[in-house]
Amino acid sequence: MKRFFIKGGKRLQGRVRINGAKNASLAILCATVLAQNEVILENVPMISDVLSMVEIINRLGCETVWEDVDVLRVSPPLQVDDMVPHRFFKKLRASNLLLGPLLARFGRAHIALPGGCNIGVRPMDLHFKGLTGLGAKVSLEHGYIRADSGRLHGAQVYLDFPSVGATENIMMAACLAEGQTVVENAAKEPEVVDLANFLNNMGAKVRGAGTDVVKIEGVSFLPGGVRYSVIPDRIEAGTFMVAAAATGGDVLLENVIPLHLEPLRAKLREANVEVEEEGDTLRVRVTRPLCSIDIKTMPYPGFPTDMQSQMMVLLSIIPGTSIIVENIFENRFMVVNELKRMGARVKVEGRMAVIEGVPGLQGTRVKTSDLRAGAALIVAGLVADGETVICNAHYIDRGYYRLEERLRELGADIRSV
Ligand code: UD1
Repeated sequence: MKRFFIKGGKRLQGRVRINGAKNASLAILCATVLAQNEVILENVPMISDVLSMVEIINRLGCETVWEDVDVLRVSPPLQVDDMVPHRFFKKLRASNLLLGPLLARFGRAHIALPGGCNIGVRPMDLHFKGLTGLGAKVSLEHGYIRADSGRLHGAQVYLDFPSVGATENIMMAACLAEGQTVVENAAKEPEVVDLANFLNNMGAKVRGAGTDVVKIEGVSFLPGGVRYSVIPDRIEAGTFMVAAAATGGDVLLENVIPLHLEPLRAKLREANVEVEEEGDTLRVRVTRPLCSIDIKTMPYPGFPTDMQSQMMVLLSIIPGTSIIVENIFENRFMVVNELKRMGARVKVEGRMAVIEGVPGLQGTRVKTSDLRAGAALIVAGLVADGETVICNAHYIDRGYYRLEERLRELGADIRSV
């Protein structure tokens, strides 16, 4: 099992280039199954979640070649293998995004119920509701999802919650359905928009992605044959921003889309962190005493749940009382017990965490249970006094490419074993 060893107390300083977005890449990799011809994807991060997804689509019948460290050529399958073993799917939750594309292209899908991070119940009722509306028959059998359909047909789908995954699954399925599909109360996350742009590049007709209502006019096939560059990862960028702020540092982030980071920037500014934008860069530095703030996680453009744990670390060392309300995933406070062992003062009551700022954290041995909690513990280790050892660090590799190397370039004392 991989472990990180961090000696805290170093200010982060310098430049860091942000990689392509994990969540956009995962959805786009699933969407390649829809195409007739090969596609070339640029800015795809070689992180373990992406490698797991590549392994799954290869098993299904795709052929993939890494042409460069972040450029992947994908040849879609002519037919699909229905018997991919459970162990491949259980590695990542996003494998559920294959349901829509497989159904649309081949009229059937047989995928294992996915795994992923331990951050809550994570049901799929909205995915099923949408796909059933488009004409699929969906059932659960022995830990697998089985879905069958003839050609899907367009439908009006209302999502009770703007689920990112459900919006993406339905959008991909609807691309090859007969007639128009309208998704109401759709998720507006930048990764949904990136997927829609990719689909449209391949020949789909998706309109309105990034708003509450997405309309998809079905086409009979998607030619593919395109080259597409994935958007930068706003959560990776956000993690560096919070790490810079927590260490009182001065870091320039390159290759970001500042608009996608606005929900986080707004909150950092409120806490007195200086965030300057210039083109596709953001400079984050601390020049004044920081102050406590309150945060509520919400669907985009609200504050992202994927930044909540990292932000909790920053708030733990700011004088005063801060409050975090987690509205998206019920188990996202699992990092709290580990932070408390490092000296943080946090009380959790249901979906609310009350944080009393302390002057500093102390390094100790901690364990992560999910990707973003792991990222938060890294931030905690960077500011803590003495050495922090983070166990189960493989969770962190799911979403961050060469994190320790890049943190070292910024001046951190971090190594892994
Ligand atoms: C995606 C992201 C994840 C991010 C999350 C919210 C990927 C691979 N993962 O996850 O990093 O934290 O969006 O921004 O893109 N829900 C239901 N029924 C459903 C589907 C979801 O009740 O059928 C609920 C979930 O339990 C959760 C909420 O909706 O409470 C949000 O989930 P969703 O937006 O679907 O998240 P994911 O797509 O799984």
